Amino acid sequence: MFKRIPGTKDILPEECLLWQKLEIISRKIFSVYNYSEIRPPLIEDAKLFNRSLGEFTEIVQKQMFLIKNQEDLYALRPEGTASVVRAYIENNLDKQSAFQKLYYIGPMFRLERPQKGRLRQFHHIGVEALGSFDPGIDVEAITLSDHLLKAYGINDYEIKLNSLGCNNDKKLFMQELHKDLSKNKDGLCPDCKIRLEGNVLRILDCKNESCKTIVSKLNIQNQHLCQDCLGHFSEVKKGLDYNQIKYTIEPCLVRGLDYYTRTVFEIKHSLLGAQDAIGAGGRYDNLIKELGGEDKGAVGFAFGIERLLLVTSHQSAVSGQNLVYIIALGEKAKEESLKLLSNLRKSGIAADTDYENKSLKAAMRKASDLKANFVLILGENELNKSTIMLKDMLKSTQEEIPINILIDELNKKLGK
Ligand code: HAM
Repeated sequence: MFKRIPGTKDILPEECLLWQKLEIISRKIFSVYNYSEIRPPLIEDAKLFNRSLGEFTEIVQKQMFLIKNQEDLYALRPEGTASVVRAYIENNLDKQSAFQKLYYIGPMFRLERPQKGRLRQFHHIGVEALGSFDPGIDVEAITLSDHLLKAYGINDYEIKLNSLGCNNDKKLFMQELHKDLSKNKDGLCPDCKIRLEGNVLRILDCKNESCKTIVSKLNIQNQHLCQDCLGHFSEVKKGLDYNQIKYTIEPCLVRGLDYYTRTVFEIKHSLLGAQDAIGAGGRYDNLIKELGGEDKGAVGFAFGIERLLLVTSHQSAVSGQNLVYIIALGEKAKEESLKLLSNLRKSGIAADTDYENKSLKAAMRKASDLKANFVLILGENELNKSTIMLKDMLKSTQEEIPINILIDELNKKLGK
């Protein structure tokens, strides 16, 4: 017996209905905000991620799925932003129109220790708006994420917001932090002792109590932001207030990827415990240039689909489907029912039948398992009268109708 790899999931048919629902809602809203879909490959040159996410980040150091191919090292993508920026530059999308609004839906891979809400193959619904430094697009991205969550029916989330400042601000801030935190090195957890030399910002959002106490004494309040970055941050907050988006400022929110500059945000949900972020994003004004493109700003975010589904209340409530299930009793009726099945499908009505020669009772159970909204029963009796029994499974009613008006009748009931 083979088993799936730890940290991966089989998304079974019933759950797929929820995934499809989420995807349909997302695509509709993306089109309302004028975002177009992009589908980059799942496998990239590993160096793309080292360069974009940062050599010292946890993802690059510990979590990449690497595949050696002769001299090359490939990686299963751990996130979408680097791939989208690579694709934007490589396909000259910036030449078609400097400003591009793109979205993607697909699997990501991180070699993490699996637990609830933390998988090795998980899925992102992500957005990247490339080619603008305007704070208005930060506001749009956060507003869009809020709009999507409301449309998914998710409540009780909190948007945490911060600004890391430009590269220069970040550099000075990191130097200062290094100086201050070195004085308290002994009190830091083993992970943060390592972070001190390469990834000092991450100490700010360490969950260890001792690290938290040391950080709280530093009284961090965006003191490191230059005038321009303060101005940008203030425009973002103003825009969000104008759009009536609720958020809280979190001066210690730093995110785990090096490419972020200025605006960063994270969306947390109380139902999720330790892995409480359902989505996150921010601005990355240096990445396009860093990867060989022009000096253009960008902003984006991604939701983890598995985590969205963990907090969606309609999880198990898969309602009936507009499926018509045909049960034929007897050889002749079976022959007729196959013709009928084909005609229903040609008319665009979702239909299926019993291919396992079940008894009437067992076939009815099957129809109910399939959550079919309608069942058609065709027996010798009906065949002789050119009628068919139509059962409405939601209303628990049944009627015998002439077979020649069946499609019209079903279309009426299905609201077509
Ligand atoms: P991230 O915070 O690494 O950001 O991932 C975004 C979301 O993906 C998280 O908030 C979480 O919901 C989900 N997620 C991450 N890791 C896992 C995992 N192991 N298992 C399940 N869900 C997970 C990014 O990846 C950035 N690329 C987001 C972005 C787009 N920033 C700008 N543009």
